[in-house]
Amino acid sequence: MYTMGNEEVEAVRRVAERKQTFRYGSPAAGHGNEVVLFEQEWADHIQVPHVLATTSGTASLICALAALGIGPGDEVIVPGYTYIATALAVTNVGAVPVIVDIDESCTMDPDALETAIGSRTRAVIPVHMQGMPCDLERILAIAKSHRLLVVEDSCQAVGGSYRGRHLGTWGDAGAFSFNHYKILSAGESGAFVTSNQAYYERAFIQHDGGCNLWPEVVGMTTDIFGGGNFRSNEFAAAILREQLKRLPGILEQLRAGKRAFVSELQLPESIRIAPMHDPDGDCGVQTLLTAASSGVCRRAIEALKASGVPAVTPADSGRHIYKNWQPVMNRRGAHHPAMDPFRMAENRECRSHYSPDMLPQTLDILERSIMIMHSVDWNDAERTRLVDAASAALAATA
Ligand SMILES: Cc1ncc(COP(=O)(O)O)c(C=O)c1O
Repeated sequence: MYTMGNEEVEAVRRVAERKQTFRYGSPAAGHGNEVVLFEQEWADHIQVPHVLATTSGTASLICALAALGIGPGDEVIVPGYTYIATALAVTNVGAVPVIVDIDESCTMDPDALETAIGSRTRAVIPVHMQGMPCDLERILAIAKSHRLLVVEDSCQAVGGSYRGRHLGTWGDAGAFSFNHYKILSAGESGAFVTSNQAYYERAFIQHDGGCNLWPEVVGMTTDIFGGGNFRSNEFAAAILREQLKRLPGILEQLRAGKRAFVSELQLPESIRIAPMHDPDGDCGVQTLLTAASSGVCRRAIEALKASGVPAVTPADSGRHIYKNWQPVMNRRGAHHPAMDPFRMAENRECRSHYSPDMLPQTLDILERSIMIMHSVDWNDAERTRLVDAASAALAATA
């Protein structure tokens, strides 16, 4: 979350005073339904025909996989560097995650994707980590040639784009998170997006097991199946509508700050700017650097921190690294053995031989990656102070 103010407080007040908090609206009350309005506004903003507001990014990923018909017998390829929810969404629908390497952009390595495709692979989830677009051109081409469905995990890249088109709208479906840590936030929240009417209907049914009696499903041609409850609510949507008004300003600030930071930053030979698949579409939440060795990286992080520069290595990002995905590594995919994708007869041919050291390329890249975190509150003086401090700290570690 970057900015939260009186507008959000007033939005919450507006909903509380109406005493109408459910997503299914009451037009008789003479006001718009916040969830539906947020869905329309997010659809207009990212230029996609269908948006379904949900409770979280995880819910959106689950709805996406369910929409695409992914289930037992299917493998879904995910990168080894992403929040655990990307992999758990796969097990939640009864399928098996196949985990592949990232490259120095800290996003899915297209070569690793292509190598990993097997006879059971049905889908791939590229993840736009830390606001940075994946190599969508190659990933989409590989997916097309192997007839894989694509779900873009855009949870960390709200408002980002690739070649001028919004992230989340390139694949068959996209998922966004609006949890506390994301670019827009309502505490917890998410959105599923797609251009496909049938996928939208299936996601809608998945997100609300009781939807069959609501007028919203009149006209849908998809047969109703048993879903869950991932419904958004009026408080969250009202906050998000205010947050969305702030998004262009937030991204402008972050991107301008990053452009200036990168152009002013002095780097020693042992550290360089990491490759980026679309610098113009990058959200600008951080600057990613690649060090020649893990030793250089660790020394750089220490020196940056000592100089007051907010820096981290993704090697320390815990649950974002596959080896720490305990339920996946231990192949315990559900609360009940009969519902556990790792034990299902249908998944016998799906590959799930995980081990902590199975992706040395990913571990090596993470150990050599440095992220300098940016802020919307930077002014020129603050940025200049930080860039000078960072340049001096990095020079001393070379
Ligand atoms: C890449 C990625 N995917 C999925 C999720 C899940 O989103 P949520 O926490 O809203 O369920 C997150 C959240 O941190 C994420 O960073």
